[in-house]
Amino acid sequence: MGTESEYIIECDNLVKIYKTDETEVMALQGLDCKVSRGELMAIIGNSGSGKSTFLNMIGGLDRPTAGRLYVDGLDLFRLSERELVQYKRHTVGFVWQNNARNLIPYLPAWQNVQMPMLFSGKSGSESRKRAEELLELVGLGHKKKNKLGEMSGGEQQRVAIAIALANEPAILLADEPTGSVDPQTAVYIFDTFRRLNEELGLTIVIVTHDLSVADKVNRVVSIRDGKISSERVMKTDYAGRMADVVAFDTSGKAHFTSHEEFAILDRNGRVQIPQEYLAQMGVDGNRVKLEMRDGKLIVEAPGTEE
Ligand SMILES: Nc1ncnc2c1ncn2[C@@H]1O[C@H](COP(=O)(O)OP(=O)(O)O)[C@@H](O)[C@H]1O
Ligand SMILES: [Mg+2]
Repeated sequence: MGTESEYIIECDNLVKIYKTDETEVMALQGLDCKVSRGELMAIIGNSGSGKSTFLNMIGGLDRPTAGRLYVDGLDLFRLSERELVQYKRHTVGFVWQNNARNLIPYLPAWQNVQMPMLFSGKSGSESRKRAEELLELVGLGHKKKNKLGEMSGGEQQRVAIAIALANEPAILLADEPTGSVDPQTAVYIFDTFRRLNEELGLTIVIVTHDLSVADKVNRVVSIRDGKISSERVMKTDYAGRMADVVAFDTSGKAHFTSHEEFAILDRNGRVQIPQEYLAQMGVDGNRVKLEMRDGKLIVEAPGTEE
């Protein structure tokens, strides 16, 4: 292998087209994205924007149509079917919204976690030990002997996280992991991801529509129409965060804006302006005026100068 990239996921101009008999859907329309090793990142976006498609490409569950996709130094376009099986088993771990279909309700939690390790050839005692450690890690050490069917939805979800970690993947992918749990449990699950990221240095990508995730992750990326449209990055320096404790609303509550929001430039220099901004600017046609002023770019509706 060549030099190790600082990015564990690198994709350029990624395109995914789903063809059915009658139609073609371009679920990813030239998506660019880089994820650093050890990053904890969330992807948000409306339903149908391409979030699951993107995650499935990274997870090797489906093949992209065009572009470049490297994960952990591997070119996903070039993996053979056999290599892809290994990739799915060892490089990525996956957590879904409803994991029940992958879990065995009449077996205790620890045996559910042990299963994938037995499949990849670990011995019974070694895999049992690790299964128990993983359950400790997700905060379920005290329930390792409980039957899965007797655990709450949130607990089952944490067992699913332990299962996803069984074969020591480099990346954990989660698609709407809090989609069917209550808000309190969602907070607990996001906290679990945060702890795994901090304690294991695990790279984690979470797809969600739950905006409360923003405070738990380093970066929030928005997908719109199969492309990254904007991103918010957690400020890491303390001064930067403190300087942002600016606003108090009418109830006297302080607002911490600890993320900086960026729009994303594509490779051709295009940037998407949110609809609400266009409305406020009074833009209704397809033209805007661009003007440089003191090194800053001003975008305005045409005909506003007189
Ligand atoms: N297997 C598929 N076959 C055909 N179209 C699909 C398939 N999977 C997703 N799509 C389409 O691709 C687009 C993006 O879907 P998806 O990635 O599931 O969005 P999200 O997860 O953001 O809701 C949608 O228009 C969806 O209908
Ligand atoms: Mg989805």
